[in-house]
Amino acid sequence: MGLLDLSRQLIRRCDELGAISEEPGRLTRTFASPAMARANQLVGSWMRSAGLQVSEDAAFNLLGRWNSNQSGAKTFLLGSHLDTVRDAGKYDGPLGVLAAVAAVQLLRERKVALPFHLEIAGFSDEEGVRYQTAYLGSRALAGKLTAADLARVQEKQIVGARRRPGEFTGYAEVHIEQGPVLEKHGLPVGVVTAIAGQSRLAVEFHGVAGHAGTVPMKLRRDALAGAAELILAAEGCGVLATVGKVEVDPGASNVIPGKSSVTLDVRDQADSRRLAAVRSLKIKAQAIARRRGLKIVWRVVQQTTAVRCDHALMRIFSHCIAKRGLRVMRLPSGAGHDAAALSTICPVAMLFVRCKGGISHHPAEAVKTADAQTAIAVLADFIRTLGKAE
Ligand code: GLV
Ligand code: MN
Ligand code: MN
Repeated sequence: MGLLDLSRQLIRRCDELGAISEEPGRLTRTFASPAMARANQLVGSWMRSAGLQVSEDAAFNLLGRWNSNQSGAKTFLLGSHLDTVRDAGKYDGPLGVLAAVAAVQLLRERKVALPFHLEIAGFSDEEGVRYQTAYLGSRALAGKLTAADLARVQEKQIVGARRRPGEFTGYAEVHIEQGPVLEKHGLPVGVVTAIAGQSRLAVEFHGVAGHAGTVPMKLRRDALAGAAELILAAEGCGVLATVGKVEVDPGASNVIPGKSSVTLDVRDQADSRRLAAVRSLKIKAQAIARRRGLKIVWRVVQQTTAVRCDHALMRIFSHCIAKRGLRVMRLPSGAGHDAAALSTICPVAMLFVRCKGGISHHPAEAVKTADAQTAIAVLADFIRTLGKAE
């Protein structure tokens, strides 16, 4: 199959995978769900037909392996994730896994022999929808699960996903940009320089529920009004901050909210700025609670530090892009990626692919076939160049 057919197949496969969901009428595929099991089965069948040996580890990561026959060969890892957010697009994650499968198809058809083993991972939880903690699958593989992760995840055998220290010489991930920069510059792909750090928090305000028609406004201890003030404080905190989920208890139109729970996601390329913003929001939330007579519970669910991509791997991606006559654009990632978890055990690099309007975490996500073709070609060339460097 030529490059054009491989890119068409890649887009078709993203469509097919996009129909595997745990919710009717929209795409949602979370960690360890029956939908994920079906997705792993389908992607596993594609991996197998590309000649890969397929397995699933204890953290539900799907793995496809191409063994080198060179003695003493090390392993290079490619991948991205197969879980999604709620009401997701079809490309965030799957594009990278399936681009890697396509690159392997291309190399095998061209009878390339690699001096290293190549493995492709379809990670099970980059988004963190199920437990509000990102990178569960890739952190399990990297051996970086925390005691808090294990307490949250019922499936304790997940620790068995850990791989040998030093096993991987590097990790490369293709991913849609999820922002508008490449499109603005008229470029199909770009090289990622760094991945922003994240703080994920869970905040509860406890007030007093009461009758919506009888308790005077001045005497209320409304837990949702407290959360609303925190949401506005987050909006103005100077770094990227999002409240993406709000729960109200008891949650009835004629009852004053007695309890509110919100998630808070704070990001920045500079860890110091992110941590300062979180500290300042905590002080503000405590002041809001005091003034309103509420009790507050402030819980840090997860913090990941900002990560720099590896210079040598970035140079190889840049070289492969330039060889195709394209301008090389380097750009940081505000979104989180499995590469951040892998960076704790090996050098990492990422190739961003232009997406329409920079839209992501939305069903309108779209990628051009021609851009998918460039991504496959660059990734295949990257792998070949790695082989020559060995
Ligand atoms: C994943 O897409 C994230 O950045 O939260
Ligand atoms: Mn993603
Ligand atoms: Mn995502």
